[in-house]
Amino acid sequence: MENIALVVGASGITGSNLAEKLLSKGWKTYGLARNPNNEIKNLKPVAANLLEIDSLRLALADISPTHVYITTWMRNETEAENIRVNGLMVRNILDVLAEKKSVKHVALVTGLKHYLGPFEAYAAEGFLPETPLREEHPRLAIENFYYAQEDEVYAAAERDGFTWSIHRPHTVIGQAVGNAMNMGTTLAVYATICKETGRKFTWPGSAAQWNGLSDVTDARILAEQLIWASTNEATQNEAFNIVNGDVFRWSRLWNKIADYFGVEAIGFNGEIHPLEKEMANDREKWQEIAQKYGLKEASLNRLASAWHTDLDLSRPIEVMTNMSKSRKLGFNVFQDTEETFYELFDRLREAKLIP
Ligand SMILES: NC(=O)c1ccc[n+]([C@@H]2O[C@H](COP(=O)([O-])OP(=O)(O)OC[C@H]3O[C@@H](n4cnc5c(N)ncnc54)[C@H](OP(=O)(O)O)[C@@H]3O)[C@@H](O)[C@H]2O)c1
Repeated sequence: MENIALVVGASGITGSNLAEKLLSKGWKTYGLARNPNNEIKNLKPVAANLLEIDSLRLALADISPTHVYITTWMRNETEAENIRVNGLMVRNILDVLAEKKSVKHVALVTGLKHYLGPFEAYAAEGFLPETPLREEHPRLAIENFYYAQEDEVYAAAERDGFTWSIHRPHTVIGQAVGNAMNMGTTLAVYATICKETGRKFTWPGSAAQWNGLSDVTDARILAEQLIWASTNEATQNEAFNIVNGDVFRWSRLWNKIADYFGVEAIGFNGEIHPLEKEMANDREKWQEIAQKYGLKEASLNRLASAWHTDLDLSRPIEVMTNMSKSRKLGFNVFQDTEETFYELFDRLREAKLIP
C-alpha cells in the first residue's frame, strides 16, 4: 500500500520542514492547518480547525492517510487551558481518522518541557530534572499538556490498533513565518536590528545558559527522525529525544552569530537582559528595515518570538539531551549546530526575510 502522510500543523516550524522532507522522499503528503502552507510545491493543503470536529471531518472526507504527524499546538493563558485545548486537538483528529481505518502510525511531536515542566513552572526550582535528559525520566508531578496529548495518542492507539512514536526536540531551529516559537529567526532579526541601529548584540539569558553546555534541534533532523521512527519496525511505540548530536556553549555561539551579522557581541555581564524588553520598541524600526531592503515580512511579530527565546536562554540550569536510545536503534543522522544557524540565516536572506 502507498504511504500517504498527513502533516497536522503543516505551516509551523516543525510541520513545514517535515512536509518538505516527506515530499523530497516521494511521499504523497497532505498538510493541515487553519491557514495551510501554500508555498511548498506539491504539498496538498487541507484547511481545517482542529477544535471544530464537524468541519474537520468535512475537510478530511476524501483523505485516508497511513501516517499521521501531529506537530501542532496553541498557546493558552494557563496550563489547565493548554491541557484542555491541546488535548482536544489531538483527540479530534484521531477520532475523525478512526472512522477511515487507514492509519498505521501516529507520530506526536512534544518537547523538552516533558522533562522541564510547562511554561508556568518552566525549569523552576523543585522541578529540575537530571541532565542530560533521558527518555525514561519519569513524568513530573505537575500538570503538563504534553502528557495530555500523549495520553490521547495512547488511548486511540489502543482503540484503533495503530503504532505510535513520541518525539521530544530541544529548541527547534528552522525556517517558518508567523509561527509561535522560532529562536533562530528571532536572533537573526535582533542581530539585523543591531546592525542597522548600531546597538550591541546583548546576551539576554542566564549565567547557567551562557556558560553551560547546550544543544538544539535542527527542524530538518527532527523531520528525518519522524520519518525514520514512523517507518521502522524496531521503533514502534517508543518516545525519542531528538537533537543535532553535538553540544555547544552559548558563550562561543553568541559571538559566532554576532560575527555572521557583523555586530558587536556582549556576553553575560551579571544579570539577565530580557530580549522581549530589548525589542519592545522595535516594530517601527523593523518596518523601516523591511521597506529599505524590500523584505517580504514587515511585521516584527510574525518573525520574532522574544518571549520564547527569553524562556529558553534564561533557564537556571544547563540543558542537553541524551540521544543514545535513537542511536542504538540505528538513527545516525547528525547535524553541525553552527551550520544549522548559518544555513538558516542564508535561507532567510534568500527568502528576503532578512537583508
Ligand atoms: N518551536 C520550538 O522551538 C519547539 C521546541 C521544542 C518543542 N516544540 C514543540 O513542538 C510542537 C510543534 O510546535 P511548533 O513550534 O512546530 O509549532 P508552530 O510552529 O507554532 O506551528 C503550529 C502549527 O499548528 C497549526 N495550528 C495551530 N492551531 C491549530 C488549530 N486549531 N487547527 C489547525 N491547525 C492549528 C498552525 O497553523 P495555523 O495557525 O494556520 O492553524 C501551525 O501550522 C509543540 O508541541 C511545541 O511545544 C517546539
